Amino acid sequence: PEGSPPTAVATVSQYACQRRTTIENNNKIFTDAFEVLAESYEFNENEGPCLAFRRAASVLKSLPWAVECLGATEDLPCLGDHTKAVMEEILLYGRSLQVESILSNERYQTLKLFTSVFGVGPKTAEKWYRRGLRSFSDILAEPSIQLNRMQQTGFLHYGDISRAVSKAEARALGNIIDEAVHAITPDAILALTGGFRRGKEFGHDVDFIVTALELGKEESLLLDIIDRLKHHGILLYCDYQASTFDISKLPSHRFEAMDHFAKCFLILRLEGSQVDGGLNIAEGDSRGWRGVRVDLVSPPVDRYAYALLGWTGSRQFERDLRRFARSEKRMLLDNHALYDKRKKEFLAATTEKDIFAHLGLEYIEPWQRNA
Ligand code: CTP
Ligand code: MN
Ligand code: MN
Ligand code: MN
Repeated sequence: PEGSPPTAVATVSQYACQRRTTIENNNKIFTDAFEVLAESYEFNENEGPCLAFRRAASVLKSLPWAVECLGATEDLPCLGDHTKAVMEEILLYGRSLQVESILSNERYQTLKLFTSVFGVGPKTAEKWYRRGLRSFSDILAEPSIQLNRMQQTGFLHYGDISRAVSKAEARALGNIIDEAVHAITPDAILALTGGFRRGKEFGHDVDFIVTALELGKEESLLLDIIDRLKHHGILLYCDYQASTFDISKLPSHRFEAMDHFAKCFLILRLEGSQVDGGLNIAEGDSRGWRGVRVDLVSPPVDRYAYALLGWTGSRQFERDLRRFARSEKRMLLDNHALYDKRKKEFLAATTEKDIFAHLGLEYIEPWQRNA
């Protein structure tokens, strides 16, 4: 009958960790627009609307169908008036005036350009913008600007690290890391994590977790891997951060806080000959290699499951896992641990499935976490 909802439509949860979101996005026209809005609010340090647009985008990404009229969004969570107004504009005219005005805004364009440099966050970008700088050559010609080592590297390898990494390149890097890890410790554990574990075709880097079966050996393992990559002549950049992990600490409330495991942010030299998919080297550039950003994180083996869950992402999935734990279960979750506030105890886990079970959640596969 007219006006009744389609039959057997399951309600969509407000939490990404209760939705299955593959890389197939049926609502890209809306989610691309929301991402521009979210980013613009982020540049203005307006966290509320920024998160609201990211949440709305995440809900639409989970739908196995395309939204074709506003009426279809009635039962969906996390879509506010502003969000719906943008959607209505896109449905009617194929574009949103607010989004177009942001895209043509000089401040947005400049902050977007500056933050695309490795080592440059919104704060630094803003500072440079306020000084009247508008381009890379403005920055590099400004004698009063002292670039740190990360930013110098960012400019040096800008072309390489702003170019997407393919699955084939991620696989080739996986082989290199795997060789290094197992030459050092035959029974070490190495796992691909981040976007490539979620099945993405392209990424901005390749993320790995590495750990030793013997508790306490994980940190020297990471340093040995770095050493080996250096001796192979493929370490272009390394920012190593020693572990500050403290087993007695409660999980962090702040999502954006970095975890305390030993980790390193690398740029590795990937030779073209090792890549079966073929490198995307521009015509005229025949050097035969490219730089690729690689992250390695090395948790103690008893925290492996938490680290794997935390580093697999997506960021929105992780945010909602923590929000769900806190708001629905009175538990605290981060990359290190899960703490039950009612029972006042930490919950151990050896697999990701254990963690979902502790939280009373259905297991969501990595390729369903593209929230
Ligand atoms: N992460 C983290 N702590 C960090 C860096 C990353 O917990 N210091 C987590 C993030 O929450 C994210 C995951 O590691 O879920 C991967 O981060 P990142 O490589 O930035 O994103 P990807 O999802 O892999 O996407 P991309 O393809 O852009 O790399
Ligand atoms: Mn990644
Ligand atoms: Mn990223
Ligand atoms: Mn990463």
